Amino acid sequence: MYRIESKINPRSPEFKDNREYYLSKLGEFRERLDKVKLGGSEYARKRHKARDKYLVRERLELLFDRNTPFLEFSTFAGYGLYDNAAPCAGVVTGIGIVHGKEVLVVANDATVKGGTYFPMTVKKHCRAQEIALQNKLPCVYLVDSGGIFLPLQDGTFADKEHFGRIFYNQAVLSAEGIPQISIVLGSCTAGGAYVPAMSDETVIVKGHGTIFIGGPPLVKAATGVDVTPEELGGADVHTRISGVSDHYALNEKHGIELTRNILENLNTPAKFELDVAPPEEPFYDPGEIYGIVPGDLKKPFDMKEIIARMVDGSKFHEFKQNYGTTIITGFARIMGYPVGIVANNGVIFSESSKKAAHFVSLCAVRKIPIVFLQNITGFIVGKQYEHGGIASDGAKMVHAVATAQVPKFTVIIGGSHGAGNYAMCGRGYFPRQMWMWPTSKISVMGGEQAADVLTQVKVEQLKEDGKKLSKKEIEKIRKPILDKYEEEGSAYYASARLWDDGIIDPVDTRNVLAMGISASLNNPIEDHKFGVFRM
Ligand code: COA
Repeated sequence: MYRIESKINPRSPEFKDNREYYLSKLGEFRERLDKVKLGGSEYARKRHKARDKYLVRERLELLFDRNTPFLEFSTFAGYGLYDNAAPCAGVVTGIGIVHGKEVLVVANDATVKGGTYFPMTVKKHCRAQEIALQNKLPCVYLVDSGGIFLPLQDGTFADKEHFGRIFYNQAVLSAEGIPQISIVLGSCTAGGAYVPAMSDETVIVKGHGTIFIGGPPLVKAATGVDVTPEELGGADVHTRISGVSDHYALNEKHGIELTRNILENLNTPAKFELDVAPPEEPFYDPGEIYGIVPGDLKKPFDMKEIIARMVDGSKFHEFKQNYGTTIITGFARIMGYPVGIVANNGVIFSESSKKAAHFVSLCAVRKIPIVFLQNITGFIVGKQYEHGGIASDGAKMVHAVATAQVPKFTVIIGGSHGAGNYAMCGRGYFPRQMWMWPTSKISVMGGEQAADVLTQVKVEQLKEDGKKLSKKEIEKIRKPILDKYEEEGSAYYASARLWDDGIIDPVDTRNVLAMGISASLNNPIEDHKFGVFRM
């Protein structure tokens, strides 16, 4: 494979300006990340520790093999929502390594409103289970939760993808042969009791873990009987009397060790094999990405320069280099894994769509995972292009992307707008994982275009009534739209609502993708199966 020849000059003023801007945004990202990772208030954390309990991230550290990476999802879930009362949406999810095997974890953070479920907590829990299903990963639930956050019951209880879905998912996952393991480290009240109850194998910690359908206050109200939590549904009750739990742990550390023992004995099948090569660092420094992506995303940049700083040895076997050049396609390796890359380098034309559809079908037939690198404003518009059939050429690409059975991974590097988001494997196209870079933006169109469209509609409306808007009046319409798009287009806004799986530092992208590909191989890649391509 040839090495990409970079044309970037790290000494140019443009590079320096870009870098300075990106580093300031990265500083903001790290600060926000550190803050949400703390979980609940200092008071809540102190109280938790005083009860001789480990914090949620400490529990995970004990669970995972030493010095192994943890691929965390949706750390910014709930960010800016619920008066910022639910950092990480009160639950930590991700893929970690136990006894050398990948497992998916869902761990309640009891320091965040007693580990209760806000709407985004439910969404994050269900997304983690979806990842487990797609990648056939055993699930470990570290339970410490008061169930539904009662003031927001209308966003958590009754609908199809609300709280009940979690237990439905457990049954479906178990039926698929995907192990469901719970360790009860605190409260499991009401609906929450079903997390351990629906698990294949359950550990409960003495003095801390409780499981009951109705807690002591409810029992008192309903029957007039006083009962302590331990008597009603503690570790002793559930391992000796009810049989709801299988393993009695003396303390948290012991419980986590028992959970590791369970995972050690799962008889996990061998992974699907790809033609893997020894990993190689990129020839060009990934840190130079900060100087390449412009602060103003309307300015174009060459995506090949990004690929050069993401793939092994900066080597890239480009496909159809001279055709449909606004999409770059080609083969490379990421940490030794073979990948097909589809990357935007401008607006999508008919030629670029057809080229992408061709390339995606190549990857599907060869069973090679695909990485989509998005920086897209959309498909080309205009009479000439409509007459040329851009709609059906775009549809070819969308069809290929939607139906390709290989693991797909999407990274939003710049903008993600319009139908370009769909064609480039946006959230609705089931990429195994979807990540955003801190300065990237996602919205139906860019703020200025949306403001222009809406102003134009208003101008036309008023024209019919013989009225005309002054410049000042036009600006009055434009400004709130621009402000709204600025706020709603940000990566944090998207991540808070789980439109992605998280925001990552660009230099970590290689590692994140490699972990995603590695995990995906737990589920054998199926044979390709396409529908009708409109020709
Ligand atoms: N809905 C909303 N808020 C809840 C809640 C719930 N179900 N359960 C707890 N909280 C809040 C508390 O109001 C408190 O908020 P604050 O920090 O603003 O004061 C915070 O979570 C911590 O609760 P607290 O009771 O002080 O903590 P704890 O660690 O001693 O106990 C629980 C945690 C979850 C065991 C206990 O709060 C409880 O039993 N809650 C009720 C659970 C229940 O019946 N759920 C049914 C829902 S399906």
